[in-house]
Amino acid sequence: MAHSKLKNLAYPMGECSFVSSAAVEAALSSSNCNSVAVFPGFCDVHVHFREPGFSYKETVATGSLASARGGYTAVCTMPNLNPVPDSVENLEQQLAIIRRDACIHVYPYGAITVGEKGEELADLEGMAPNIKGYSDDGRGVQSDEMMLAAMRRAKALGLPIVAHCEVNELLRGGYIHDGEYAKAHGHRGICSESEWGQIARDLELVRQTGVKYHVCHISTKESVELIRKAKAEGLDVTCETGPHYLIMDDSELQEDGWFKMNPPIRGREDKEALLQGVLDGTIDMIATDHAPHSAEEKSKGLEKSAFGIVGIETAFPALYTYLVKPGILSFERLRELLVTNPRKRFGIPMGSDYSVWDLEACEAVDPNQFISKGHATPFAGRMLYGKCLLTVCDGKIVYQQEDHHG
Ligand code: DOR
Ligand code: ZN
Repeated sequence: MAHSKLKNLAYPMGECSFVSSAAVEAALSSSNCNSVAVFPGFCDVHVHFREPGFSYKETVATGSLASARGGYTAVCTMPNLNPVPDSVENLEQQLAIIRRDACIHVYPYGAITVGEKGEELADLEGMAPNIKGYSDDGRGVQSDEMMLAAMRRAKALGLPIVAHCEVNELLRGGYIHDGEYAKAHGHRGICSESEWGQIARDLELVRQTGVKYHVCHISTKESVELIRKAKAEGLDVTCETGPHYLIMDDSELQEDGWFKMNPPIRGREDKEALLQGVLDGTIDMIATDHAPHSAEEKSKGLEKSAFGIVGIETAFPALYTYLVKPGILSFERLRELLVTNPRKRFGIPMGSDYSVWDLEACEAVDPNQFISKGHATPFAGRMLYGKCLLTVCDGKIVYQQEDHHG
């Protein structure tokens, strides 16, 4: 006989035929909540798991388990590692760690250029069978010729260019948005053009090459407009933004490295344009840019801390609390943003992948409870709805709430 609580089981993003009622019952009976919501496995196309090279910041084991706790069953990892996956041999080092330690599906990107230095193309052909696309994330490809050559080869190989867009010349030592907060507090700002200037350059190259092109973490209103026009023109372009860009603006910054990431949280008009882009389909997906660093690296204030915040354990609760619950974003659209669109764009299959949540649970974000080794998040202390009880990947339980909180 079914567990009596199963009548309080909901599928807010739509039915998932592959859900095991036994697993859901187990989640229900082991928690003290009255109802649960089941979601198809989320997919994040932009995370940093830091292995090989920087395991003190995060490992594939901690990053993938943290993702499972966030309801994610598939992620794509960025190549700013040591060694950088820019050759078959270097990529194999990363793949071996993933095969050994990942509890969910982890798909690497290969670098566009050797060492992400922007000087020489990586072995795009050799890496192609084992990656989801090419990225020099963490920095923009400065040379037009280099990007054009990369796009031509990526086009021939049928894989996307996944672009971190940033014009180095325009950075001028900035580290937060070049807006009201920077002015008021005497900080050096990063102008919006450093992002959209390179998107505009790339779109011209996409026009010439026809490559599949995906823009990482867009943060400015001008970027939204450029991509809207490119789509109307019929270019094969997609893009992502992050929860923090949709929920916060620079008026909420604090004098703390936990508010520092690249690109930075922008102004109110940017936030509103991003939301509009999410609603009208210009922005295809939400990715976290989960970028863990050590406590020490994040403890040096806005100017001196490393760029990057964690996000994989708070993405769904933040989006649910700030956008879905108030009626700004529908669950249906959130499914497209977190599940269908990223999986379709990057060819990431869905097995029996789902997570089970108590949506009534509301807690202050406590980074000490994170599974991730990184604790820096601007959402620390914010009250968020949604607690993940269980995550299943390929029919196997990969996260269960009790495991973590004992
Ligand atoms: O904030 C960021 N952190 N932006 C990036 O582009 C890179 C990332 C990192 O690797 O820490
Ligand atoms: Zn980036």
